[in-house]
Amino acid sequence: MTPQAALLDDLATLLGKGGLLTEADDMERYRVDWPGHHGAEPLAVARPSTTRQVADVVGYCHRHDIPLVPQGGHSGLVGGALPDADHPELVVSLERMAAIRHVDPINFTMSVDGGCILQSVKDAAEAADCDFPLSLGAQGSCQIGGNVSTNAGGLNVLRYGMMRQLVLGLEVVLPDGRIYNGMKALHKNNTGYDLKQLFIGAEGTLGIVTGAVLKLFPRPQVSRTALLACPNVDAVLELYALARRSCCDLLTAFELVPRTCLELAMEAAPDLRDPLDAPAPVYVLMEVAASGPLDLDAMIETLFERGFEAGALTDGVLAASEAQARNLWHIREAMLEGQRNRGEHLRTDVSIPISSLSAFHQCASEEIQALCPQATIIAYGHIGDGNLHFNILPPPGLGADERSTLLHELEERLFEIVDDFDGSISAEHGIGRFKQSAFMEMLSEPEYDIMRGLKHLLDPRGLMSPGRILPRPAE
Ligand code: LAC
Ligand code: ZN
Repeated sequence: MTPQAALLDDLATLLGKGGLLTEADDMERYRVDWPGHHGAEPLAVARPSTTRQVADVVGYCHRHDIPLVPQGGHSGLVGGALPDADHPELVVSLERMAAIRHVDPINFTMSVDGGCILQSVKDAAEAADCDFPLSLGAQGSCQIGGNVSTNAGGLNVLRYGMMRQLVLGLEVVLPDGRIYNGMKALHKNNTGYDLKQLFIGAEGTLGIVTGAVLKLFPRPQVSRTALLACPNVDAVLELYALARRSCCDLLTAFELVPRTCLELAMEAAPDLRDPLDAPAPVYVLMEVAASGPLDLDAMIETLFERGFEAGALTDGVLAASEAQARNLWHIREAMLEGQRNRGEHLRTDVSIPISSLSAFHQCASEEIQALCPQATIIAYGHIGDGNLHFNILPPPGLGADERSTLLHELEERLFEIVDDFDGSISAEHGIGRFKQSAFMEMLSEPEYDIMRGLKHLLDPRGLMSPGRILPRPAE
């Protein structure tokens, strides 16, 4: 038996029937992610069904020096979960570990497996008259372990925080195969270093998240969605400050949607209609929700009045039914499809202090347009979190190499401007592989030393998601 065949044989024994995929056709879907990037063929795909099996597989890989990469729902945007081309890796997919372990509506917590789909978590919370507020486009396919590992953000961060604020406990298989059990459902626990936080946002480089205790909230009983038209980004920010106050801090979402995005959405979903009579340069898609019978309409009407008076608002529509609200949110989803249909482009997820967003938007738009007048800028996103997706569509007709060189140059310039504004080059998508070189340039020596030290402490052989976030040590 070749060493490769012996390895597959051992893993198949550890995982049992259906637990290991080795045929190229079966492994194809583990090589592709939602944005359409392709990874290499993995050594095999392990599909454990219990935490014990994950630990056995990881322990085996540790003893035999086999690199591995954990995978959730393939919706990451920075290539972190795609198998590496130069160093074949074992994919560890959590898709067979999708159970809701326990829901506790008095403690407002839920314990789940790492492979549990986000939508199932939200449904189980709702069934217990609770809410798990993490909300993002990929919620029908992304998994909690991936949400934890990427510290997912999404649409409701301004009210509820990112995944980091929504996790109370974790179960993690460490790179040597031991299990860290931190599945305590405690809202307060101040005993030493907060170890779970190390694994949140670690992008699978420090361990595999096999379980999580999540924080729940009372289920919203009333919610309202509105689309507001504004003359410019400055006005949007003025409106944001007004909205937080007028709506008693009950805002759950406050999204910037420029006209270009509305057009991309209508391009991707031909049944979508322009919700307002006249086009405006920018829109805000906002939602307000409360867990009791508050008069949200009155709050939003006050906001409209104040917004009009201040000249921050030129038009707007308040959804009159749930169906209308869904239609407005459909714009937010369809514009992502519209962008994807335009082919390879620069995706970013930068953040800037909210009060500097307008100046940043103007400066970055001018600079990028000066460098490439035919590029199309689509800057949208979670403006209530200071998080802009400042994306750039290249001019049509460029060859693949020319396009990548151009996008790289534009990204470099954009990140310099982000730095000038004391911002971050990744507010929510993480580093993975695609943002690694930019990340390394921004890292100070103490930051690098701490991160490298943590990685070495937990994964001295460098087998867990190698080359993601930090580069591999020189070989
Ligand atoms: C969004 C994702 C891509 O907000 O982060 O659209
Ligand atoms: Zn986003």
